[in-house]
Amino acid sequence: MKIFLDTADYDAISMRYDTGLIDGVTTNPSLIKKSGDDPFEAIKAISESFPDLKSISAEVVADLACDMVEQAKPFMELDNVTIKVPCTVEGLRACRQLRDLGATVNVTLIFSAAQAVLAAKAGATYVSPFVGRLTDNGCDGLELIKTIYDIYARQPLGTEILAASVRSPEVVALCYREGSDIVTMPPGVFDRMYESVLTREGLAIFQKDWDSINK
Ligand code: E4P
Repeated sequence: MKIFLDTADYDAISMRYDTGLIDGVTTNPSLIKKSGDDPFEAIKAISESFPDLKSISAEVVADLACDMVEQAKPFMELDNVTIKVPCTVEGLRACRQLRDLGATVNVTLIFSAAQAVLAAKAGATYVSPFVGRLTDNGCDGLELIKTIYDIYARQPLGTEILAASVRSPEVVALCYREGSDIVTMPPGVFDRMYESVLTREGLAIFQKDWDSINK
């Protein structure tokens, strides 16, 4: 059960890294754009500053597999960087080539079980089903996680399920229940995982009683 932060914001990672609960980071071009940093420099800073992260996804964007592989090469020099490719014909060609070159690969933009089958066959280290975007479009993202889990349990090829596009702590928990190995989430969703009004209220009562004992 691993927790990844879905952000390219250095400070956001830094503020949560010392909880000891964060196993990795995922980025995408939109998140890099939001951070305002150069893609390579952003990933390099994360890789160098947070050595306990087991995987930092850096996405490549190109039409052809050969161009994706070329784009990936500088990232592959960095520690613990995973190359993220789209689930297309060329993306899965690139996935196979990158695995042969020794990279770990995250196949992203997964919206069906059939895509997850192809990604596993292409040697993906991780597949990223987009739970929230499926829900936005009237489909059941959690059902997809369960279906992929069942397929991978019956036909194991070693690919891990990395639930992505997750927008609430409730959905985080349900992704694990349905069989996700990893959930990547925005920093704000991670923070809200600690929250319960009953914890706050219970703590206030305990504090009050503690103070009266120690008067
Ligand atoms: C991470 O790997 C994905 O790119 C990300 O979770 C997508 O999230 P969104 O659908 O909220 O943009």
